[in-house]
Amino acid sequence: MRGCETPATTAGAGGAHPALRAARMDRLGDWRFRALDFRAAACPNGAMTDHKPDLDAAYSLKTPEDSVRLYRDWASSYDTDFAAALDYRLPEATAAAFAEGGGEGPVLDVGAGTGLLGAALAERGIGPVDGLDISSEMLEAAAAKGCYRKLVQADLMRALPLDLGAYAGITSSGTFTHGHVGPEALDGLMQVAAPGALFALSIKVEIYEAMGFAEKFVSMGAQITGLELLDCAVYGPGADADHAGHRAMIARFRKA
Ligand SMILES: C[S@@+](CC[C@H](N)C(=O)[O-])C[C@H]1O[C@@H](n2cnc3c(N)ncnc32)[C@H](O)[C@@H]1O
Repeated sequence: MRGCETPATTAGAGGAHPALRAARMDRLGDWRFRALDFRAAACPNGAMTDHKPDLDAAYSLKTPEDSVRLYRDWASSYDTDFAAALDYRLPEATAAAFAEGGGEGPVLDVGAGTGLLGAALAERGIGPVDGLDISSEMLEAAAAKGCYRKLVQADLMRALPLDLGAYAGITSSGTFTHGHVGPEALDGLMQVAAPGALFALSIKVEIYEAMGFAEKFVSMGAQITGLELLDCAVYGPGADADHAGHRAMIARFRKA
């Protein structure tokens, strides 16, 4: 894949923050970002139906163990049956937001999955990038892309097996979403980020308040600076009607 030059190695498996209103108009490459006029929306609370590896099943996950099972089955078809089929653009948008914000390596890409965001960072010359995910099968697919320096299997909801202050950037696409990872994970990510590190984290719009991200950013207070919420489409024009309107925000900020 273009831009991926570094061989990957596997290492084992509420309240409106004032800064949110200051989110600015911007354009990043082909992506239109606009200041977010955030309105609270209910988080769908669907029951776990089955382990069929698709977006509906992913949104119904309840625990990290559910994620391990689902993504074990989805890893081999994720890039084709999901990302290509639905014209999935969130990794590209997140990489663009990180680059436009002045992001530099070393980067930790969390919920790295099959490595689509790592590839998008590499295409922008940003590295080295380490990837972290709970699914060893997804990490195997990421390793095959050759865009990561190191891949780490770990649960974002637990203490991270990484050096404190090691990263100048933290990125994530598609992982802060329905049934996946909540704002509690931000504490661990702040610990492994260096002072001044740039974060670019996609967060599905509907869960921003419902899962407590808005409240979390307020509580982080002076620990972070320059919080912006960049609104973007999750899928491109190739998406089907069911997915065409899906939106996410990219929370971009720096560790103080
Ligand atoms: C929708 S995929 C996104 C993958 C990739 N970033 C992308 O945009 O294509 C979500 C990823 O989050 C991972 N994940 C879910 N829960 C996790 C957790 N508690 N800790 C670490 N990774 C997790 C899954 O294994 C999966 O690879």
